[in-house]
This record gives sequence, C-alpha cells and structure tokens, in this order.
Amino acid sequence: MNAGPAVDTVRRQIAQAAAHAGGVAVLTGAGMSAESGIATFRDAMSGLWSRFDPAALASEEGFRADPAQVWRWYAERRDGVRGAQPNAGHRALADFERRHPGVLTVVSQNVDDLHQRAGNAGTIRLHGDILQDAWLAPCPQRRGCGVDQATPGEPPRCADCGNLLRPAVVWFGERLPAQALAAAETAARRCRVLLVVGTSGAVWPAAGLAAIARRAGATVVIVNPHPSEIDDEAHACLRGTAAQLLPRLLASGPDLD
Ligand code: APR
Repeated sequence: MNAGPAVDTVRRQIAQAAAHAGGVAVLTGAGMSAESGIATFRDAMSGLWSRFDPAALASEEGFRADPAQVWRWYAERRDGVRGAQPNAGHRALADFERRHPGVLTVVSQNVDDLHQRAGNAGTIRLHGDILQDAWLAPCPQRRGCGVDQATPGEPPRCADCGNLLRPAVVWFGERLPAQALAAAETAARRCRVLLVVGTSGAVWPAAGLAAIARRAGATVVIVNPHPSEIDDEAHACLRGTAAQLLPRLLASGPDLD
C-alpha cells in the first residue's frame, strides 16, 4: 500500500479544502464496495459475468430477450447488497460529512446503498438504485400501471397492459439521469479536491468527472490498488484500498478539524 508522504500531503490538501463549501468531492466505483463483499464489475467478469455476455444481462435488449434470466440475476445481486455492510471507507466518508457539513459531495457509480446506509444520504447516484424497480416502458394507457401478482423468478407485469418492471439502474447504452449528471459535474467544478475511489475509469461520462475537476483547478487524487484508465488525470495515485486509505485521508485530527 502506498503510505507515508503522499497520504499525508493529500490529507493536508483535504484539510485546506474542508474550509470551503463544496470543497471536497468523491467519485466512487465498484471498488468502494469490494471490501463489503460486493464483487466489482471487472472482477465479476472473471467470476459471475464469465458465464454471461454483459450485454445479455445489463441492457434493455438483453432484458427483453430473457426477462426472467435478467430478473433472477438482479435478485441475486439484490440479496448480496442487502447482506453487505458499509466498510471502513464508507464510514470514513460519512464521519467526514458529519464533521464538515456542506463540504463533501459523494458521487457514486455504484447501485448499492452502502454510502446511504453509512450516512451519506445525499450521495448522487449516476447509475441508479439496484434496490428499486421502474417500468420498462411508459404506460400505454397513461393511467399508470398496476402490478399483477408476480410469478416467482419473473419480473412483475402490469395487469392491464402487460408492461414489465425492471431494476431502476442505468443499463449499457442508456442515458444517465440528467439531473444526477448535472449535479455531479457541478460538484466536480466546485471542489478543490476530488478523490476518485475504486473505479477503473472505463465507463463514461462518469470517468470524465476527473478531467472536469482538474480543468477547474482541483487536485485530483486516485485511490485504487491498481492502475485505472484515468490515472493521467490525477495529481496523485495512492495505491491502496478504500477501507485502508479513506480512514487515513479523512480522519479527524489537528490539521483537519
Ligand atoms: N479499493 C479501491 N479500489 C478497488 C478495490 C478496493 N478494495 N478493489 C478493486 N478496486 C478497483 C479495481 O482496481 C478497479 O479499478 O476498483 C475498480 C473497479 O472497476 P470496475 O469493476 O470497472 O467498476 P467501475 O469502475 O465502478 O465500473 C463502472 O461500469 O460496469 C459498469 O455501470 C457499471 O458502474 C459500473 C461502471
């Protein structure tokens, strides 16, 4: 793990940024939840995803092709999220927000609720919420769909128009929620330090937040045990995990409180 001066330098930069409203922003990816036992996408592709083509599971066409299979895959993932607990990294972010109201903005690519359960209730969700459902299509009868009794292992269907429920997550090829993306870009422009934690930087537009922050003059710091596709946007890459490094970077102490 990358320890010593780089961590201490970043900690001081966070301390200075904590004097300003919106001074610290954090972009998190699947690595943030890895130490809570939730497989990251790229790791899962070697495990869970190796059995499937990602597009067959996390896309509208994949869902329409086999709604029951996709619904079962998400049910499995939902169980995993419900059984997981926030880790020391989530708790460090929530504690920092409690100590410095109005300073921290958490932006997450993750569809779990670990940031929220830890205490960062205002986390900006770029890719949706795996624990919520949404209707696959607008209700054709404009009076709003009603759920028919669901068949176990299959997505619930509207009793009147046959519309299906789907997980309320952003699938490959779908647009991000405009309001969430706009809020994330505002936070990236406003912050003085952007921490990028646990993301491969492989998926846009989330990955573009690092460049937006850097262009606006922020110090960009990556927390990741491995290289990512956006390392070039960072002033510092701290080679360690979320649960190891965030408690050290955000701990209260003489220079931070
Ligand atoms: N702490 C910090 N980083 C970690 C940890 C950890 N404990 N464990 C793994 N990582 C890093 C990996 O090195 C990798 O760079 O987390 C990153 C996870 O990358 P991905 O699996 O690609 O996840 P993410 O970047 O969030 O994917 C972005 O792609 O699949 C879509 O919509 C999905 O939100 C997801 C998006």
